[in-house]
Amino acid sequence: MGRIPQNFIDELIARADIVEIIGARVPLKKAGREYKACCPFHDEKTPSFSVSPDKQFYHCFGCGKHGTVLGFLMDYDHMAFPEAVEELATRLGLEIPREITAGSGAARRSDEPLYELMARVAACYAQCLAREARARDYLAERGLAAETIERFAIGYAPNSWNEVLRRFGASDADRQRLADAGLIVERERGPTQGSERHYDRFRDRIMFPIRDARGRVLGFGGRIIDAGEPKYLNSPETVLFHKGRELYGIYETRRSRPSLTRVVVVEGYMDVVRLHQAGVDYALATLGTATTPEHFRRIFRLVPAVVFAFDGDRAGRAAAWRALQQALPEAREGREIRFLFLPEGHDPDTLVGAEGREAFEQRLQGALPLSEYLVRELSEQSELAHADGRARFAESARPLFAKVPEGVYRELLLERLAEVVGLAPARLDELWASGRGPTPAGQAAPAARTAAARAASHSATGAGRGSLVRQAIVRLLRYPAIAGEVSPEERAGLEASEEAGMGLLRELLDNLREQPAQIPAQVIERWTGREGAEWLQKLLEREEVITDAAVAAGELRGALVKLADQAAGRRLEALEAKSRTGSLAPQELEEFHRLIMRLRHRDARGG
Ligand code: UTP
Ligand code: MN
Repeated sequence: MGRIPQNFIDELIARADIVEIIGARVPLKKAGREYKACCPFHDEKTPSFSVSPDKQFYHCFGCGKHGTVLGFLMDYDHMAFPEAVEELATRLGLEIPREITAGSGAARRSDEPLYELMARVAACYAQCLAREARARDYLAERGLAAETIERFAIGYAPNSWNEVLRRFGASDADRQRLADAGLIVERERGPTQGSERHYDRFRDRIMFPIRDARGRVLGFGGRIIDAGEPKYLNSPETVLFHKGRELYGIYETRRSRPSLTRVVVVEGYMDVVRLHQAGVDYALATLGTATTPEHFRRIFRLVPAVVFAFDGDRAGRAAAWRALQQALPEAREGREIRFLFLPEGHDPDTLVGAEGREAFEQRLQGALPLSEYLVRELSEQSELAHADGRARFAESARPLFAKVPEGVYRELLLERLAEVVGLAPARLDELWASGRGPTPAGQAAPAARTAAARAASHSATGAGRGSLVRQAIVRLLRYPAIAGEVSPEERAGLEASEEAGMGLLRELLDNLREQPAQIPAQVIERWTGREGAEWLQKLLEREEVITDAAVAAGELRGALVKLADQAAGRRLEALEAKSRTGSLAPQELEEFHRLIMRLRHRDARGG
């Protein structure tokens, strides 16, 4: 099966009507130029989900979900990208053309999206599993059915230093991409070029592809078959894979359950796989890390309730306590966070194997709410029968309570803690607030400051609100066809610019001049998975008054000329400085004059 050509995807997006497609699934109401509804991706009572027929784009102001018609089908109907394309094509009665991918032309391979490389490598591992009896026997011994292995696309990395390298790393560019994807490792000593320079990261391991919610392979976890170290080897951090962000099993969970109400978060790959196989098909795992705020964000976008299941051993209890601390800032009314402790010596894998789905789900029902787990842990450390024990309890609860955000949940938790301490809630709150040491407010402050600092530094690097680069990108995005009106000289003038965001602007211009697009959604779709995609989506969501394409084209060209002038001015200064301390080379002299002419011309333009 070949790759779907870009111009076909452009055509699909241009022809499909996002209002019709979404309207068939979500009741939309017209409001001005847009359509509104209660967001299908999160729980709400007042509509903040909006669909724009002009942009062919949807956006929820509540939960932040957004995308094109293809993205909507993937998220709402849990389709993979090719499925969504097929669905649309079928509706529109179009045949999907395929590019021929036979042969391994280095040029086309090296610009293939990293996602596709990952998918091909995962398929290769799956084929290798079919050929390796030892690996299949191991999985059978661990109780995995063939259907489960297929559902999770589990594979096997052969016992070879260069299986992946040989199959997917023909050229230097190919090898660079394998290295970028974390699939091969550079040798510390040895040849500095050619295929000898690297070796396969994963060898003789059971391979678990880690997929995102859309089913795209981001990385792998590889389990050793016999005993050995490390037991699990994970992909390193790459452009696609960030360990603290992903949840193993999210794709499979969303696929098996169109309407989810809760998820259970476990510790291991095997736990997820075995639970799904047993019918607890809403299990996810963090990848050997503590639960991060990003994990919580992803979980609560999906469901309002989560149960953390931990092994009954000491490591499991320690992990649970860490999870509680991470969970406190996320606790609020409307969300349910609970903790389940398994019997000593069991993990979810062995337990569900031993007692089956119903018993396991019964345990989930009985899981401890966050507040009760907190009270239980703290009271185990203090003798609540005595006043000084209760004071100690209050002391250890204070910093934890401080992490809970303002709101109804916080008030209820205060009540519960006050009950244990034996004081009126208001009195406990007052004591905490007036006590020496870190007060709740004093604790929150440093975190808030760093967030602000981060935001400030981000806007410094990402081209600020009103910057020329931003203005240009916003206009290109809104009316992509105006890229064709930019002259070669205007484009060339941007080469010397080092403005923040300029790389993206140049790329966008070049892309749209080479392959024109008509509507914003086409651009967003093209940029999916590329650098700058998130920024583009944000820019598109922000409603800006740009009245029509002609005006936008004028403003775009104005911004480009100003940017080029700025770059020219800076270059001129540098050459001037150089001419003062030494002499300029002939071509520098020529550049110098060209720049002076340019700036004179600008002054004549009145810029
Ligand atoms: P466990 O040691 O509990 O493994 O690690 P498990 O999932 O029960 O594996 P089996 O049943 O022995 O096959 C839990 C998780 O911690 C991470 C992995 O994500 C693993 O699933 N881990 C563990 C690593 O990343 N590296 C390791 O060496 C071990
Ligand atoms: Mn296990």
